[in-house]
Amino acid sequence: MKFETMVLHAEGLVDKETGASSTPIYQASTFHQEDFDHPPTYDYSRSGNPTRHVLESLIAQMEGGKAGFAFASGIAAMTAVILTLRAGDHVVACEDIYGGTYRALTRVFSRLGIEATFVDATDLDQVAAAITDKTKMLLLETPSNPTLRILNLTDLATLAKDKSLITVVDNTFMSPYLQRPHDLGIDIVVHSGTKFLGGHSDVLAGLVTVKDEHLAKEVYLIQNGFGAVLAPYDSWLLLRGIKTLSLRMKQSQETAQKIALFLASHQQVRQVYYPGLPDHPGFAIHRAQAKGAGAVLSFELADQDAVKKFQQKLAYPLYAVSLGAVESILSYPSRMSHAAMPREERLKRGIRDGLLRLSVGLEDADDLLGDIEQALAQL
Ligand SMILES: Cc1ncc(COP(=O)(O)O)c(C=O)c1O
Repeated sequence: MKFETMVLHAEGLVDKETGASSTPIYQASTFHQEDFDHPPTYDYSRSGNPTRHVLESLIAQMEGGKAGFAFASGIAAMTAVILTLRAGDHVVACEDIYGGTYRALTRVFSRLGIEATFVDATDLDQVAAAITDKTKMLLLETPSNPTLRILNLTDLATLAKDKSLITVVDNTFMSPYLQRPHDLGIDIVVHSGTKFLGGHSDVLAGLVTVKDEHLAKEVYLIQNGFGAVLAPYDSWLLLRGIKTLSLRMKQSQETAQKIALFLASHQQVRQVYYPGLPDHPGFAIHRAQAKGAGAVLSFELADQDAVKKFQQKLAYPLYAVSLGAVESILSYPSRMSHAAMPREERLKRGIRDGLLRLSVGLEDADDLLGDIEQALAQL
């Protein structure tokens, strides 16, 4: 079964009780039990909910994982994964990780005795040098946010195995339609389901998949023990969004490629970051490990003034936090996704004041290109 077919016909998608084509929303917190000798499959919705369960099983099948878990947001999913560690453990993370993950590591987990070191993970030697006898986890994101750097997942997974580290990849930018980290040896995959999986800017969600039974038990303990679970209705919204994931991804990616090419040749644009451009330093690695370059690109204008003027002249993209939706979304990382990162840390990662990130949606490609062209012409 190809991916496009699987997201429509995977095990569990047709309701077993009624044959309903759309998963019923079990809006219940608790479940009647016959007697204490016959524990039911579901007893309490924090521990398990039938609607959430269909989603969790689907994401596991989509990622090729052993088990899936749904959380109330992407950051809840990421923190649940980090919470499988213990005080005294150390994390090595790629330096241009999502700003919220950076904040959780540097301001919350550091208080609990879990320390993190951030490295340029495009350089295997830097990763190896940061590993100590306390390191337990390697936390990665490729393409990275917002500078779309590409990491070699196979090489990093091999290095991590050698040092007995658990590997985690935030696969939000790609979705399992374009990239399946478990197939490359990665242990845990995390998603902000708020983005491409939901796809319509109407739900906050997070997902985790794991490669083996032991990790499934660890993540389940945190999911049930900390309780940041995804609600039944929100699980249903995600199930609905996933049905059109491949079509949306294909279309948005095609337009993103056109926009990246256009921006790369425009004199007001200093730099374009998009792994679909052949001169991107990670082009070959990305091509080998993913099915496409995705629908997110970043580009740099002269400065903050240029950013403000450009944004105000645009007609179509939402100017907002987030990405991965039917409508295009333009965001300004230094004031939005990476505002939690100190300016000097941002600059080290190439997140300069002229940098904008565009998540390409489903608008007509010529309309979007025309809009960007007219806004740039007014700078
Ligand atoms: C790559 C990435 N990971 C994680 C998150 C966090 O997800 P959420 O906003 O659903 O908590 C985001 C949100 O922007 C993201 O872009």
